[in-house]
Amino acid sequence: MNPFILQGYRGPDLFCDRQQELSELIAHIENGRNMVLHGERRMGKTALLRRLLDGRPGMLVDLLPCQSLAEAVEKIARALVEREGVLNPREPSLWQRLLAQFEVRISVDPVSGMPRASLRLGNHGDAAPALAHIGAYLAQLEPGFLLCLDEFQQITRFTDGDAEAVFREWMNAFPAIRFAFSGSHTTMIRAMFNAHSRPFYQSCEIMELLPVPREDYAAFIQRHFQADGRTASDEVVDAVYDWARGTTHWIQSQCNRLYDRNGDPTGADVRAVQAAVLASQQGYMGQILNQLPSAQAALLKAIARSPDGVPQPTAMSFLQAHGLPAASSVNSALKGLERSELVMRRGDGAWQLSDPLFAWWLREG
Ligand SMILES: Nc1ncnc2c1ncn2[C@@H]1O[C@H](COP(=O)(O)OP(=O)(O)OP(=O)(O)O)[C@@H](O)[C@H]1O
Ligand SMILES: [Mg+2]
Repeated sequence: MNPFILQGYRGPDLFCDRQQELSELIAHIENGRNMVLHGERRMGKTALLRRLLDGRPGMLVDLLPCQSLAEAVEKIARALVEREGVLNPREPSLWQRLLAQFEVRISVDPVSGMPRASLRLGNHGDAAPALAHIGAYLAQLEPGFLLCLDEFQQITRFTDGDAEAVFREWMNAFPAIRFAFSGSHTTMIRAMFNAHSRPFYQSCEIMELLPVPREDYAAFIQRHFQADGRTASDEVVDAVYDWARGTTHWIQSQCNRLYDRNGDPTGADVRAVQAAVLASQQGYMGQILNQLPSAQAALLKAIARSPDGVPQPTAMSFLQAHGLPAASSVNSALKGLERSELVMRRGDGAWQLSDPLFAWWLREG
């Protein structure tokens, strides 16, 4: 079996490092602190939460597909129903009160023969009371039950009620539940938890998920090649790590394909694999580029072609070097690109593409 997985989480042996982050998050749980995990796309936030949930009571709900507070509440309830089983609750009276908030339809899965529930919010779609009943049930489960709400920045797009205030009140009302909020839109997540005027202001411990350190990833890669009787040299591992800018998913994608080849991987193998990974993403990247307004597309290309990052995208020298329009249009293009998470500001203040692959593709194209 290929040990470099490209989806989800499949046990600690195939999960690289993150020991320090894990101990920090576990300390938060054990000391009753709620937490926020944010970081670049595909850095491994969801996988880390799954690792944290391995052997620990809790569940993860991905809010990305939710368009409204009502849908988010329904999704949380559905995850709980799936976890508990529709008919076998541990707290029957709390369970009945919870289910009474929803229009529940139970059907039988034709393949497994197991009962399945579909839930719609009743009570004219009022989310807060439904959350209160879910909270009351969760608080009765194992102590330290961890509820992970992934892609939490999505709630800022909801229009049916003040979702931030509703979730904040919910979190406060149930101190027995541990909450972990995570999301990739770093600016949005930071603003939500650090702005004085917002409901979640300073309510959680914030962790930014950075790349796994090079030495730790190298050891992980080399261990799995070794177990197959092969050697991955330091040069090969460095080339893989640098090309991916340390982004977990792109390291995994390269290693998965390298492992698939025969013998000890060489520099030529790495280049072939990188070309294959780029090619696999080409259609997707082309589509994104084609949908951008022309000023945003031009700015994206200009930033991609500056591999060291762009300290000041509206600087005259940068505009001239890349034939960009006036600073004011570049400024609004930059805001648009940031909103759609295509560019990001590094710790040192310079702008770069969020996705290193997209940058490679634009640089070469
Ligand atoms: N520590 C790890 N060791 C090995 N593989 C990992 C690790 N962390 C994540 N992965 C793999 O990397 C990929 C990306 O991880 P994941 O989906 O968790 O990232 P993410 O930060 O949640 O991304 P997104 O921003 O798109 O939600 C997945 O295929 C996952 O299996
Ligand atoms: Mg994720």
